[in-house]
Amino acid sequence: MVDRVTRDDLPAGRPSGLVGKQIADYRVENEIGRGGMAVVYRARDLRLDRAVALKLLAPELARNDTFRRRFAHESRVAAAIDHPHIVPVFEAGETEGVLYIAMRYVAGQDLRALLDREGPLPPEQAGRIASQVASALDAAHAHDLVHRDVKPGNILVAPGTDSEHPEHVYLTDFGLTKKSLSLTGFTSVGQFVGTLDYVAPEQISGRPVDGRCDVYSLGCVVYETLAGVPPFRRDDDMALLWAHQYDPPPPLTGERPGLPPAVDAVLSKALAKTPAERYETCLQFVAELRAALLGDAAGGSTPPPAPPAWALPVFREL
Ligand SMILES: Nc1ncnc2c1ncn2[C@@H]1O[C@H](COP(=O)(O)OP(=O)(O)OP(=O)(O)O)[C@@H](O)[C@H]1O
Ligand SMILES: [Mg+2]
Repeated sequence: MVDRVTRDDLPAGRPSGLVGKQIADYRVENEIGRGGMAVVYRARDLRLDRAVALKLLAPELARNDTFRRRFAHESRVAAAIDHPHIVPVFEAGETEGVLYIAMRYVAGQDLRALLDREGPLPPEQAGRIASQVASALDAAHAHDLVHRDVKPGNILVAPGTDSEHPEHVYLTDFGLTKKSLSLTGFTSVGQFVGTLDYVAPEQISGRPVDGRCDVYSLGCVVYETLAGVPPFRRDDDMALLWAHQYDPPPPLTGERPGLPPAVDAVLSKALAKTPAERYETCLQFVAELRAALLGDAAGGSTPPPAPPAWALPVFREL
């Protein structure tokens, strides 16, 4: 017999101590991890007898109407996107005053943990991960869904299928960021708003955001996968926000000598302060990045290889 959870079981701030309890149709098995506004558990869907990741949002979010509306809307949109690099959402709901999301359980680790363990990644691996996240983001943007919180903790890296695909990457947590709420006055001074390492200038200044804010955040993530550190590091949050808005990002090749110089131009376009100056899509950004990492012509660093002598007439005719 499993105990049902009620709001009273949830200590102020965040749900915890729920192992063995039942929440809606899920039995909580063990805690996977926690962020600033939620705890994620591995749980068993009792109807289908399968493992899921069950995310329980902090009770204070359930009391915020703006958040609830966004939660309901964006979970529905995210659940409607069927994409190989977006974590499938099975159900989003509320029980006993607790907002929850049940989604595919991804065995692996997030990119934050991978970077903490391995440091900067080999360029090929960084390129493969960036491509998969980019395809997920472009698909979301095609549904008018802006992620708003692209960061290593929201990128899950699972083992891939074969040596050509050594990792399979999933993007998670659409629209579940507190940062935009804080700009509307929801978050009071001192409340945790999560990392500010990846936040776009227009999010900071409260201007309207579109998919290009995800291009910026992806640019920050890609920078970190290659350099081992995000583009801006400052002693306090205000200085960091200022840097995102006004300071040019330090060239990536300064942090990781040995990369082709063409990568600097690609990163500086992805990290442009004005959305109109960035890449239009995440895949365009990553295509140019990968070309630049290869030292390829499309990356702008080296001229295209000369055609072989026998092919010259053909090229002249063109
Ligand atoms: N579908 C999933 N399968 C397996 N692990 C997951 C899944 N979703 C999230 N996790 C893990 O749960 C942990 C907590 O996630 P959560 O989204 O609460 O925090 P976060 O993204 O690190 O921070 P923030 O609160 O700022 O979003 C992360 O370590 C993440 O790797
Ligand atoms: Mg997350």
